Amino acid sequence: MFLKDLQKNGQATQEHLDKYLNSWGDSDVISAMRHALNGGKRLRAYLAVKGAAAYDIPIDQSIWPASAIEAIHAYSLVHDDLPCMDDDDLRRGIPTIHKKWNNATAVLAGDALQSLGFELVLNPACSEKESVRSELALSLAKAAGGQGMVLGQALDIAAESAQTPLDLDQITALQRGKTGALLGWAVKSGAILAQEDPMPLSLYAQAVGLAFQIADDVLDVQGDPEKAGKRLMKDASAGKATFVSLLGLEQAKARSQHLIDQACDAVSPLGKGADALQQCAKFIISRDS
Ligand code: IPE
Ligand code: IPE
Ligand code: MG
Ligand code: MG
Ligand code: MG
Repeated sequence: MFLKDLQKNGQATQEHLDKYLNSWGDSDVISAMRHALNGGKRLRAYLAVKGAAAYDIPIDQSIWPASAIEAIHAYSLVHDDLPCMDDDDLRRGIPTIHKKWNNATAVLAGDALQSLGFELVLNPACSEKESVRSELALSLAKAAGGQGMVLGQALDIAAESAQTPLDLDQITALQRGKTGALLGWAVKSGAILAQEDPMPLSLYAQAVGLAFQIADDVLDVQGDPEKAGKRLMKDASAGKATFVSLLGLEQAKARSQHLIDQACDAVSPLGKGADALQQCAKFIISRDS
């Protein structure tokens, strides 16, 4: 049931993005953007749509922030895979953009995907209120930028050449930017759209964001590269400290389970509207890709 719903929402997101880019032509950069926007679990889109649905916001509005966050996430992956970053050849089971085209096309497609994210949340169909659209754009800029995802990525790259491995607090701070900021924005965008108290979704986002990264670290060690659609065992071979290297597999898993319980409790005041978010939280630590 949950997996079907996730897939259905992913399809709606894909259709929305395809339709938006339909008239953009077929230059290398645009083709590369479409390539990067394909596939993935669409977790962030799901969180955006279901967070908004908890406040009775319909999907024809929430699909805009949902598509926006998938565009920004896709940009972050394109740049993350570049030779000057993680140097990966495979993403979502298909060649990365710099492999299929070249480095310049990957840099530019990533840049354009980032702009696309802002274009989407600023579309009048997202919210009739200009103040809501600008609040979405401002918070998205903060989540993606130098105090958010980019900061986390910079700390992650620095960790590779650090003299001493990072400790748990440092890894947690790194994660808050690297994966927590965009995932968190996806969840909180629903409260912004609805102009409601962001607290229940914020608490949920914090716990789920951290649990997501612990699960990513567990997958890096234990996952099947075929299912994950990307190279694994990268952190250990780069000598990087992760939640798994610091806590051990069992404790890392126990911690992610505890965080998911916390996340589910945080949204329980939302009643039935929180069901999908609670199921998604459980999926985030049980996924195999
Ligand atoms: C993978 O994110 C990269 C990280 C942020 C750790 P996802 O696991 O959500 O990737 P897709 O979107 O499903 O491919
Ligand atoms: C990617 O983190 C995070 C972002 C792109 C912001 P990782 O480098 O750990 O993700 P994978 O393992 O390549 O998917
Ligand atoms: Mg990386
Ligand atoms: Mg990577
Ligand atoms: Mg990883």
